[in-house]
Amino acid sequence: MLSIIGLHQYYGESHTLWDVDAHVRKGSCSCLMGRNGVGKTTLLRCIMGLLPVKSGIIRLEDHDLTALKAERRASLGIGYVPQGREIFPLLTVEENLKIGLSARRDGLKSIPERVFEIFPVLKQMLHRRGGDLSGGQQQQLAIGRALAIDPTLLILDEPTEGIQPNIVHEIGDVILRLNRELGMTVLLVEQKLPFARRVADRFYALEKGRIMASGEISELNESVVQQYLSV
Ligand SMILES: Nc1ncnc2c1ncn2[C@@H]1O[C@H](COP(=O)(O)OP(=O)(O)OP(=O)(O)O)[C@@H](O)[C@H]1O
Ligand SMILES: [Mg+2]
Repeated sequence: MLSIIGLHQYYGESHTLWDVDAHVRKGSCSCLMGRNGVGKTTLLRCIMGLLPVKSGIIRLEDHDLTALKAERRASLGIGYVPQGREIFPLLTVEENLKIGLSARRDGLKSIPERVFEIFPVLKQMLHRRGGDLSGGQQQQLAIGRALAIDPTLLILDEPTEGIQPNIVHEIGDVILRLNRELGMTVLLVEQKLPFARRVADRFYALEKGRIMASGEISELNESVVQQYLSV
């Protein structure tokens, strides 16, 4: 579904991603892992077209995304939940969700009912300001905003970061449901091992901008964890 081939990225002179190859299979839930600062967010931003790449190819199904603008990539059906959520604090929940709609191909102007079915709390809080929501609610809003385009591929950057344990579990339930029941392909960055093991079926371990290990989540053994993931 999503293929990344030979990707190199620089911030100025600083070579951050090195020859990254990754293939996210249709219907899978893949987890990109690695310690702080190894380039996880950079890779997601390259996929979304929010950062330029030096060389390499990014492909979604038959589309070569590499030269496309970010808006166009989103409209091909990629939902993106950025690290830190990036909710507009002064806009209402409804307005935040409607911003997600702008990337829809079909021009639908109303928020799909499915968003509220998945996150009932957003319906109750429709007229509250984004900034007044708790961290967990903001994360639900960020995921809801990404779901507003009915993506076929959902990309989430550390959705459990700074969230209370009960909401972390709920977010896990949502990801499982989107992936297993609704057939959405998922690529997520996650540092919490139990969470990754619960929701993902494949992993990629990144270190200093290179993919050092990958495989089925059952192959994410203690030696991989020690080498690339533990702090
Ligand atoms: N805008 C930027 N300009 C220059 N360097 C940057 C920029 N953003 C990130 N970096 C650097 O690129 C490297 C990778 O950062 P990135 O945010 O992709 O890491 P990460 O794996 O997502 O980390 P974390 O787990 O903390 O979110 C880091 O060394 C970081 O300092
Ligand atoms: Mg990051």
